[in-house]
Amino acid sequence: MNPTAAHLHIAEPFLIQQDWQAYTGEQHAVWAELVRRRMPQLAKHACAEYLDGFEQIGLREDTIPNLAEVNLRLGPRTGWNATPVSGFLPPDAFFEMLAARQFPTTTWLRKRESLEYTPEPDIFHDVFGHVPMHAHPVFADFLQQYGRVCATLMDDKEKLEKMGRLFWFTVEFGIIRQKGAIKLYGSGLISSHGESTYVIQGGPEIRDFNLEQVLNQQFLVSEMQKVLYAVESFDQIYEAAKEAEHRLS
Ligand SMILES: [Fe+2]
Repeated sequence: MNPTAAHLHIAEPFLIQQDWQAYTGEQHAVWAELVRRRMPQLAKHACAEYLDGFEQIGLREDTIPNLAEVNLRLGPRTGWNATPVSGFLPPDAFFEMLAARQFPTTTWLRKRESLEYTPEPDIFHDVFGHVPMHAHPVFADFLQQYGRVCATLMDDKEKLEKMGRLFWFTVEFGIIRQKGAIKLYGSGLISSHGESTYVIQGGPEIRDFNLEQVLNQQFLVSEMQKVLYAVESFDQIYEAAKEAEHRLS
């Protein structure tokens, strides 16, 4: 049993164990292929915090991560935990976990036939895409604050939709300006070669991050993103999550 699971009430039925021994050689080889495909581009275009986090939490190119080992490194840094779950969570369970600094993490891995895209998140999207950023103290605080705010808005569909846009344009498709260049930090970019290439080649319109605009910006999940919002620092999204609490709660 996960030692931190005790205080999760809504999410409890979705918690599972990662059976790391059960991964096959083919699955580890698919992971290795996925990492090899992404790393050359990310070495140039991912933000420094992502690349540092990748090292700090001990991700490897050749094997699927063992979440218990990741958490031994991640926990002491920021108090976050990559917690294995059975799949998509209902919103209240998802926000409860974020507010408790537990990231719902799937354990299955896509097959070789679908290296670029899976309709549902898998361990590559969740761990390779998301978890390295959780080693960064400000991003870590932002994500918990995000979960806290959303957990208080469960009865208001419209406000939750606005918060969903904040998640989309930061956690999933966030970009940051560093040393005069656009760098990637959102997991939907980090884990997708196609989406990242589109951004690097100047596809989307890039606007300065603005909370009011983000809360009202529609997006399509099924297409390349037409608009992205660039921050100057991660303090900006932490402040935005606090500001969102004032505006929406
Ligand atoms: Fe994601």
